Amino acid sequence: MPQILLITGGTGNLGSHLVRTAQKSGKWDEVHSTYHALNPNFHKIFWHFTDARNSVLPMLTRINPTCIIHTMALSSPDECEKRKLDAWQINVQATSEIITYANLNAVRFIYTSTDLVFDGVKGDYSEEDKACPVNFYGDTKLEVENDILEKFTTANYVTARLGLLYGFNLNQRLNFFDTIYNGLRNQDSVKLFKDQFRSMMNISNAAECLMELASNTYQGMIHLAGPERISRYDFGLRLAHHLKLPAATIAGIKTDEMQSISKRPKDVSLNVNLALKTLKTPIQSVDEGIRSIFSL
Ligand SMILES: NC(=O)c1ccc[n+]([C@@H]2O[C@H](COP(=O)([O-])OP(=O)(O)OC[C@H]3O[C@@H](n4cnc5c(N)ncnc54)[C@H](OP(=O)(O)O)[C@@H]3O)[C@@H](O)[C@H]2O)c1
Repeated sequence: MPQILLITGGTGNLGSHLVRTAQKSGKWDEVHSTYHALNPNFHKIFWHFTDARNSVLPMLTRINPTCIIHTMALSSPDECEKRKLDAWQINVQATSEIITYANLNAVRFIYTSTDLVFDGVKGDYSEEDKACPVNFYGDTKLEVENDILEKFTTANYVTARLGLLYGFNLNQRLNFFDTIYNGLRNQDSVKLFKDQFRSMMNISNAAECLMELASNTYQGMIHLAGPERISRYDFGLRLAHHLKLPAATIAGIKTDEMQSISKRPKDVSLNVNLALKTLKTPIQSVDEGIRSIFSL
C-alpha cells in the first residue's frame, strides 16, 4: 500500500518546516499539503487549495492519505478572539470532519495542539494535568483534544501539545522570531514579555519529532516542547548573545504594561519527560536550537 502523507496547513510556520522535512526524508510515496491565503513555496509535492470554513471532506477523499499531520488553524490568539466564528469553523469544525474521516478510514492522525490549553498558574504541566484555557484560541484547541478522545475508536492518533516554536519562517509571513532577529540586526527597538514563560522549541526540531510520531506507533497525548522554561525577553537576550549583537534595543515588558485582545497565561511551560523517553529524535535546548538555525 502506498504511504501517503497529508500535512494540512503547509504554508504555515510549522507546516512549511514539516513539508521540507517530509520531502527530505524520502520515506513517503506521496506528500500532499493544503494552502489557503499564501502561495506554496515548495513545488515537489501535491498542493491543494482549501478553505477550512467549508467542508474539507472532498479534499480528504481525493488524496486518500495513510497519515495526516494536522497543523491548519487560525493560530493567533488575538485573531481568534476577533473572529470567533472563523476560529470555530477552522479550528474545531474542520478538524472534527478530519477526525471522523481518519477514524473511519484507519488513517493515522497527528494533531498539533498547544501549551495554551493551560491556565498558566502553576507551569511545568504534564500530560496528566487538567487543561483550562484562558482564551478562545485555547478553548478551540481543547475542544478538539476532547473530540479526539470521544471519536477515535482505533487509537491511531497522537495529540502533540506544542510549546512556542521559534525559527525563521519559510513562507511570506514574518513570525516573532523574524521580528526579534530583524530588530537585533537593524538595532530597532523590540518589546518582549519578561513575565510570561513557555518551553520554547526550535521549529525544525518540532517538525522532526512530529515526523517521527507520524512513522511510529506511539498513541495518545504527548508534550512536545523545549526542555527549558524561558520568557521571550530572555530568549531575545540569548539570541543577541549568540549573534554577538548589542541587546540594548530589546526591552523587557510586563503583561499588564501592554494591552492585548486575548488574555495570556503567565507560565505554560511544559514537562517534556515523556517526549524525552519516547522519541529517538533529540530535543534541543534553547542554545542548541539557536545554534542549529545559524549552522545551516
Ligand atoms: N507556532 C507555534 O508556536 C505553535 C505553538 C503551539 C501550537 N501550535 C499549533 O501548531 C499548528 C501550526 O501553527 P503555525 O504557527 O504553523 O500556524 P500558522 O503559521 O498560522 O499556519 C496556519 C496554517 O493554516 C492555514 N489556514 C488558516 N486559515 C485557513 C482557512 N480558512 N482554510 C484553510 N487553511 C487555513 C494557513 O494557510 P495560509 O498560510 O495559506 O493562509 C496556514 O497554512 C496550529 O495548529 C497551532 O495551533 C503552534
